[in-house]
Amino acid sequence: MQNNLLTFKDTSTEQMLALLNLALNVKKSPSDYRDALRGKSLVALFEKPSLRTRVSFDIGIQKLGGHLVYLDSQSNNLAGREDTKDMALNLSCWCDGIIARVFKHETLEELAEHASVPVVNALCDLYHPCQALADYLAMAEIFHDVKGRTMAYIGDGNNVTHSLLIVGALLGVNQVVVTPIGHEADQEIVAMAKELALQTGASITQLTDIDKLDNADVIYTDTWLSMGDDTPLSEIKEKFMPYQVNEALMQQCGAEYVMHCQPAHRDLEITSSLIDSSASLLMMQAENRMHAQNAILITLLGNLIN
Ligand code: CP
Ligand code: NVA
Repeated sequence: MQNNLLTFKDTSTEQMLALLNLALNVKKSPSDYRDALRGKSLVALFEKPSLRTRVSFDIGIQKLGGHLVYLDSQSNNLAGREDTKDMALNLSCWCDGIIARVFKHETLEELAEHASVPVVNALCDLYHPCQALADYLAMAEIFHDVKGRTMAYIGDGNNVTHSLLIVGALLGVNQVVVTPIGHEADQEIVAMAKELALQTGASITQLTDIDKLDNADVIYTDTWLSMGDDTPLSEIKEKFMPYQVNEALMQQCGAEYVMHCQPAHRDLEITSSLIDSSASLLMMQAENRMHAQNAILITLLGNLIN
Protein backbone atom coordinates (compact mmCIF):
# COMPACT_ATOMS: atom_id res chain seq x y z
CA MET A 1 0.00 0.00 0.00
CA GLN A 2 1.30 3.50 -0.77
CA ASN A 3 2.14 5.78 2.15
CA ASN A 4 -1.03 7.81 1.75
CA LEU A 5 -4.59 6.71 1.24
CA LEU A 6 -6.04 9.12 -1.30
CA THR A 7 -7.89 6.84 -3.76
CA PHE A 8 -6.89 3.12 -3.54
CA LYS A 9 -6.23 3.26 -7.29
CA ASP A 10 -2.58 2.24 -6.86
CA THR A 11 -3.40 -0.57 -4.43
CA SER A 12 -2.94 -4.15 -5.65
CA THR A 13 -5.66 -6.79 -5.33
CA GLU A 14 -3.45 -8.61 -2.79
CA GLN A 15 -3.04 -5.46 -0.70
CA MET A 16 -6.78 -4.79 -0.83
CA LEU A 17 -7.59 -8.32 0.29
CA ALA A 18 -5.02 -8.04 3.10
CA LEU A 19 -6.60 -4.78 4.23
CA LEU A 20 -10.08 -6.32 4.18
CA ASN A 21 -8.83 -9.29 6.23
CA LEU A 22 -7.12 -6.96 8.69
CA ALA A 23 -10.38 -5.00 9.07
CA LEU A 24 -12.22 -8.28 9.77
CA ASN A 25 -9.62 -9.16 12.44
CA VAL A 26 -9.69 -5.70 14.01
CA LYS A 27 -13.46 -6.05 14.32
CA LYS A 28 -13.27 -9.62 15.67
CA SER A 29 -10.35 -9.20 18.09
CA PRO A 30 -10.05 -5.51 19.03
CA SER A 31 -7.86 -6.20 22.08
CA ASP A 32 -5.11 -7.54 19.79
CA TYR A 33 -4.76 -4.02 18.39
CA ARG A 34 -5.19 -1.85 21.48
CA ASP A 35 -1.56 -0.63 21.32
CA ALA A 36 -1.29 -0.46 17.54
CA LEU A 37 -1.17 3.36 17.56
CA ARG A 38 0.32 3.79 21.04
CA GLY A 39 2.23 7.08 21.20
CA LYS A 40 0.87 8.25 17.83
CA SER A 41 -1.04 11.47 17.31
CA LEU A 42 -3.18 12.24 14.29
CA VAL A 43 -4.80 15.45 13.08
CA ALA A 44 -8.22 15.53 11.39
CA LEU A 45 -8.83 18.50 9.13
CA PHE A 46 -12.45 18.84 8.00
CA GLU A 47 -13.70 21.38 5.45
CA LYS A 48 -17.19 19.79 5.42
CA PRO A 49 -19.57 18.53 8.12
CA SER A 50 -19.51 14.92 9.33
CA LEU A 51 -21.07 12.60 11.88
CA ARG A 52 -19.82 9.10 11.05
CA THR A 53 -16.34 9.91 9.75
CA ARG A 54 -15.42 12.29 12.52
CA VAL A 55 -16.68 10.14 15.40
CA SER A 56 -15.48 6.81 14.00
CA PHE A 57 -11.95 8.12 13.43
CA ASP A 58 -11.80 9.73 16.89
CA ILE A 59 -13.10 6.74 18.83
CA GLY A 60 -11.31 4.25 16.58
CA ILE A 61 -7.93 5.93 17.14
CA GLN A 62 -8.53 5.91 20.91
CA LYS A 63 -9.25 2.17 20.73
CA LEU A 64 -5.83 1.68 19.08
CA GLY A 65 -4.10 3.66 21.85
CA GLY A 66 -3.58 6.79 19.74
CA HIS A 67 -4.77 10.37 19.99
CA LEU A 68 -6.66 12.63 17.57
CA VAL A 69 -6.74 16.42 17.31
CA TYR A 70 -9.78 17.64 15.35
CA LEU A 71 -9.54 20.86 13.33
CA ASP A 72 -12.86 22.15 12.09
CA SER A 73 -11.80 24.43 9.29
CA GLN A 74 -15.41 25.41 8.63
CA SER A 75 -16.01 27.17 11.91
CA ASN A 76 -12.40 28.12 12.60
CA ASN A 77 -11.84 29.36 9.08
CA LEU A 78 -8.49 27.61 8.77
CA ALA A 79 -8.73 27.07 5.03
CA GLY A 80 -7.48 30.23 3.39
CA ARG A 81 -5.72 31.48 6.52
CA GLU A 82 -2.53 29.96 5.23
CA ASP A 83 -1.43 27.88 2.25
CA THR A 84 -2.20 24.16 2.20
CA LYS A 85 1.52 23.54 1.74
CA ASP A 86 2.32 25.43 4.96
CA MET A 87 -0.40 23.57 6.85
CA ALA A 88 1.09 20.25 5.71
CA LEU A 89 4.60 21.31 6.70
CA ASN A 90 3.50 22.59 10.12
CA LEU A 91 1.27 19.63 10.97
CA SER A 92 4.11 17.25 10.06
CA CYS A 93 6.18 18.84 12.87
CA TRP A 94 3.87 17.34 15.51
CA CYS A 95 1.64 14.59 14.23
CA ASP A 96 2.07 11.09 12.78
CA GLY A 97 -0.77 11.29 10.26
CA ILE A 98 -3.28 13.68 8.69
CA ILE A 99 -6.92 12.76 8.03
CA ALA A 100 -8.61 15.27 5.73
CA ARG A 101 -12.13 15.86 4.40
CA VAL A 102 -11.87 18.47 1.67
CA PHE A 103 -13.82 20.03 -1.18
CA LYS A 104 -11.18 19.42 -3.84
CA HIS A 105 -9.13 16.29 -4.41
CA GLU A 106 -6.20 18.56 -5.36
CA THR A 107 -6.07 19.78 -1.74
CA LEU A 108 -5.35 16.20 -0.63
CA GLU A 109 -2.68 15.85 -3.30
CA GLU A 110 -1.06 19.06 -2.09
CA LEU A 111 -1.22 17.93 1.55
CA ALA A 112 0.32 14.60 0.57
CA GLU A 113 3.05 16.26 -1.49
CA HIS A 114 4.26 18.46 1.35
CA ALA A 115 3.47 16.43 4.48
CA SER A 116 6.12 14.04 5.74
CA VAL A 117 3.43 11.89 7.39
CA PRO A 118 0.67 9.76 5.78
CA VAL A 119 -2.46 11.55 4.52
CA VAL A 120 -5.85 9.77 4.59
CA ASN A 121 -8.78 10.89 2.43
CA ALA A 122 -11.86 11.24 4.64
CA LEU A 123 -13.98 12.27 1.58
CA CYS A 124 -13.38 14.71 -1.24
CA ASP A 125 -15.30 15.69 -4.36
CA LEU A 126 -14.12 12.57 -6.23
CA TYR A 127 -13.56 9.77 -3.71
CA HIS A 128 -14.60 8.36 -0.35
CA PRO A 129 -12.20 5.40 0.04
CA CYS A 130 -12.73 4.74 3.78
CA GLN A 131 -16.45 4.40 3.11
CA ALA A 132 -15.90 1.85 0.33
CA LEU A 133 -13.65 -0.35 2.46
CA ALA A 134 -16.24 -0.31 5.29
CA ASP A 135 -18.99 -1.21 2.81
CA TYR A 136 -17.14 -4.19 1.34
CA LEU A 137 -16.31 -5.27 4.89
CA ALA A 138 -20.08 -5.44 5.50
CA MET A 139 -20.53 -7.45 2.29
CA ALA A 140 -17.68 -9.77 3.31
CA GLU A 141 -19.38 -10.42 6.64
CA ILE A 142 -22.67 -11.22 4.92
CA PHE A 143 -21.42 -13.21 1.94
CA HIS A 144 -17.99 -14.39 3.26
CA ASP A 145 -16.45 -14.10 -0.22
CA VAL A 146 -17.41 -10.91 -2.07
CA LYS A 147 -15.80 -12.00 -5.35
CA GLY A 148 -18.48 -12.69 -7.96
CA ARG A 149 -21.23 -10.91 -6.01
CA THR A 150 -23.12 -8.07 -7.71
CA MET A 151 -23.70 -4.60 -6.30
CA ALA A 152 -26.10 -2.24 -8.07
CA TYR A 153 -25.47 1.42 -7.26
CA ILE A 154 -28.51 3.58 -7.97
CA GLY A 155 -28.67 7.38 -8.06
CA ASP A 156 -26.11 10.14 -8.47
CA GLY A 157 -22.71 9.14 -9.87
CA ASN A 158 -20.52 10.68 -7.18
CA ASN A 159 -17.52 10.32 -4.86
CA VAL A 160 -19.02 7.24 -3.16
CA THR A 161 -19.79 5.62 -6.53
CA HIS A 162 -16.20 6.16 -7.65
CA SER A 163 -14.65 4.57 -4.57
CA LEU A 164 -17.09 1.65 -4.67
CA LEU A 165 -16.07 1.09 -8.30
CA ILE A 166 -12.34 1.12 -7.56
CA VAL A 167 -12.41 -1.03 -4.43
CA GLY A 168 -15.07 -3.34 -5.90
CA ALA A 169 -12.97 -3.85 -9.04
CA LEU A 170 -9.97 -4.83 -6.89
CA LEU A 171 -12.08 -7.27 -4.87
CA GLY A 172 -13.83 -8.82 -7.89
CA VAL A 173 -17.32 -7.46 -7.15
CA ASN A 174 -19.50 -7.02 -10.27
CA GLN A 175 -21.03 -3.56 -10.38
CA VAL A 176 -24.00 -2.04 -12.15
CA VAL A 177 -24.21 1.75 -11.87
CA VAL A 178 -27.66 3.15 -12.66
CA THR A 179 -27.96 6.93 -12.89
CA PRO A 180 -30.26 9.46 -14.55
CA ILE A 181 -28.87 10.86 -17.81
CA GLY A 182 -26.46 13.70 -17.01
CA HIS A 183 -25.58 12.31 -13.55
CA GLU A 184 -23.28 9.50 -14.63
CA ALA A 185 -20.07 8.66 -12.77
CA ASP A 186 -16.85 10.34 -13.94
CA GLN A 187 -15.96 8.42 -17.11
CA GLU A 188 -12.19 8.61 -16.49
CA ILE A 189 -12.68 6.95 -13.11
CA VAL A 190 -15.01 4.34 -14.64
CA ALA A 191 -12.31 3.56 -17.24
CA MET A 192 -9.71 3.29 -14.48
CA ALA A 193 -11.96 0.91 -12.51
CA LYS A 194 -12.54 -1.20 -15.64
CA GLU A 195 -8.77 -1.45 -16.08
CA LEU A 196 -8.38 -2.57 -12.45
CA ALA A 197 -11.25 -5.05 -12.88
CA LEU A 198 -9.27 -6.91 -15.56
CA GLN A 199 -7.21 -8.40 -12.71
CA THR A 200 -10.23 -9.90 -10.96
CA GLY A 201 -12.71 -10.45 -13.81
CA ALA A 202 -15.29 -8.15 -12.21
CA SER A 203 -17.78 -6.59 -14.62
CA ILE A 204 -18.76 -2.92 -14.61
CA THR A 205 -21.97 -1.93 -16.37
CA GLN A 206 -23.55 1.51 -16.64
CA LEU A 207 -27.29 2.02 -17.20
CA THR A 208 -29.63 4.98 -17.31
CA ASP A 209 -32.81 2.91 -17.72
CA ILE A 210 -33.73 1.65 -14.24
CA ASP A 211 -36.17 -0.89 -15.75
CA LYS A 212 -33.17 -2.74 -17.23
CA LEU A 213 -31.79 -3.59 -13.78
CA ASP A 214 -32.64 -7.26 -13.41
CA ASN A 215 -30.07 -8.83 -11.09
CA ALA A 216 -28.17 -7.76 -7.97
CA ASP A 217 -27.21 -9.17 -4.57
CA VAL A 218 -27.23 -5.74 -2.97
CA ILE A 219 -28.56 -2.35 -3.92
CA TYR A 220 -26.60 0.71 -2.83
CA THR A 221 -27.68 4.34 -2.91
CA ASP A 222 -26.48 7.74 -1.71
CA THR A 223 -27.81 11.28 -1.51
CA TRP A 224 -28.88 12.87 -4.80
CA LEU A 225 -27.10 16.09 -3.79
CA SER A 226 -23.62 15.84 -2.28
CA MET A 227 -22.11 18.32 0.14
CA GLY A 228 -21.04 21.43 -1.72
CA ASP A 229 -23.71 21.02 -4.42
CA ASP A 230 -26.13 23.93 -4.01
CA THR A 231 -28.64 22.74 -6.63
CA PRO A 232 -32.13 23.11 -5.10
CA LEU A 233 -33.78 19.69 -4.50
CA SER A 234 -36.84 20.92 -6.39
CA GLU A 235 -34.72 21.17 -9.56
CA ILE A 236 -33.68 17.51 -9.61
CA LYS A 237 -36.34 15.70 -7.60
CA GLU A 238 -38.57 14.79 -10.55
CA LYS A 239 -35.60 13.42 -12.50
CA PHE A 240 -34.33 11.32 -9.58
CA MET A 241 -37.61 10.06 -8.13
CA PRO A 242 -37.84 7.09 -10.57
CA TYR A 243 -34.42 6.04 -9.19
CA GLN A 244 -35.66 5.85 -5.61
CA VAL A 245 -34.52 2.63 -3.92
CA ASN A 246 -37.69 0.99 -2.63
CA GLU A 247 -39.22 -2.41 -2.04
CA ALA A 248 -40.40 -2.72 -5.66
CA LEU A 249 -36.87 -2.15 -6.98
CA MET A 250 -35.45 -4.72 -4.55
CA GLN A 251 -37.99 -7.22 -5.86
CA GLN A 252 -37.34 -6.28 -9.50
CA CYS A 253 -33.68 -7.33 -9.27
CA GLY A 254 -33.90 -9.94 -6.51
CA ALA A 255 -31.64 -8.02 -4.13
CA GLU A 256 -31.62 -9.29 -0.56
CA TYR A 257 -29.76 -6.35 1.02
CA VAL A 258 -29.74 -2.57 0.79
CA MET A 259 -26.85 -0.24 1.55
CA HIS A 260 -26.41 3.53 1.98
CA CYS A 261 -23.35 5.40 3.24
CA GLN A 262 -25.57 7.92 5.10
CA PRO A 263 -26.60 10.63 5.81
CA ALA A 264 -29.81 9.25 4.27
CA HIS A 265 -32.83 11.26 3.20
CA ARG A 266 -35.82 9.15 4.11
CA ASP A 267 -38.37 8.74 1.32
CA LEU A 268 -36.18 10.53 -1.20
CA GLU A 269 -33.31 8.33 -2.46
CA ILE A 270 -34.49 5.41 -0.27
CA THR A 271 -37.76 4.59 1.43
CA SER A 272 -37.88 4.99 5.19
CA SER A 273 -39.36 1.49 5.53
CA LEU A 274 -36.41 -0.07 3.68
CA ILE A 275 -33.89 1.71 5.93
CA ASP A 276 -35.62 0.18 8.94
CA SER A 277 -36.13 -3.27 7.38
CA SER A 278 -34.20 -6.49 7.93
CA ALA A 279 -32.65 -5.99 4.46
CA SER A 280 -30.83 -2.88 5.67
CA LEU A 281 -27.05 -3.00 6.18
CA LEU A 282 -26.85 0.71 7.03
CA MET A 283 -25.86 0.38 10.68
CA MET A 284 -23.39 -2.39 9.90
CA GLN A 285 -21.79 -0.07 7.35
CA ALA A 286 -21.69 2.74 9.92
CA GLU A 287 -20.09 0.50 12.54
CA ASN A 288 -17.61 -0.82 9.99
CA ARG A 289 -16.31 2.67 9.24
CA MET A 290 -14.34 2.46 12.48
CA HIS A 291 -12.93 -1.04 11.87
CA ALA A 292 -12.05 -0.30 8.24
CA GLN A 293 -10.34 2.98 9.14
CA ASN A 294 -8.44 1.33 11.97
CA ALA A 295 -7.16 -1.27 9.52
CA ILE A 296 -6.05 1.54 7.21
CA LEU A 297 -4.28 3.41 10.04
CA ILE A 298 -2.57 0.24 11.32
CA THR A 299 -1.35 -0.46 7.78
CA LEU A 300 -0.11 3.09 7.21
CA LEU A 301 1.45 3.88 10.58
CA GLY A 302 0.82 1.09 13.05
CA ASN A 303 3.16 -0.38 15.64
CA LEU A 304 1.99 -3.90 14.72
CA ILE A 305 2.77 -5.80 11.56
CA ASN A 306 -0.02 -8.33 11.13
N1 CP B 1 -20.82 8.37 5.43
C1 CP B 1 -20.18 9.43 5.92
O1 CP B 1 -19.05 9.76 5.53
O2 CP B 1 -20.87 10.11 6.88
P1 CP B 1 -20.47 11.52 7.47
O3 CP B 1 -20.59 12.53 6.37
O4 CP B 1 -21.44 11.77 8.59
O5 CP B 1 -19.06 11.46 7.97
N1 NVA C 1 -21.86 11.82 -1.67
C1 NVA C 1 -22.03 12.31 -0.33
C2 NVA C 1 -21.44 11.36 0.65
C3 NVA C 1 -21.63 11.73 2.10
C4 NVA C 1 -20.98 10.77 3.03
C5 NVA C 1 -21.40 13.69 -0.19
O1 NVA C 1 -20.28 13.89 -0.71
O2 NVA C 1 -22.00 14.55 0.43
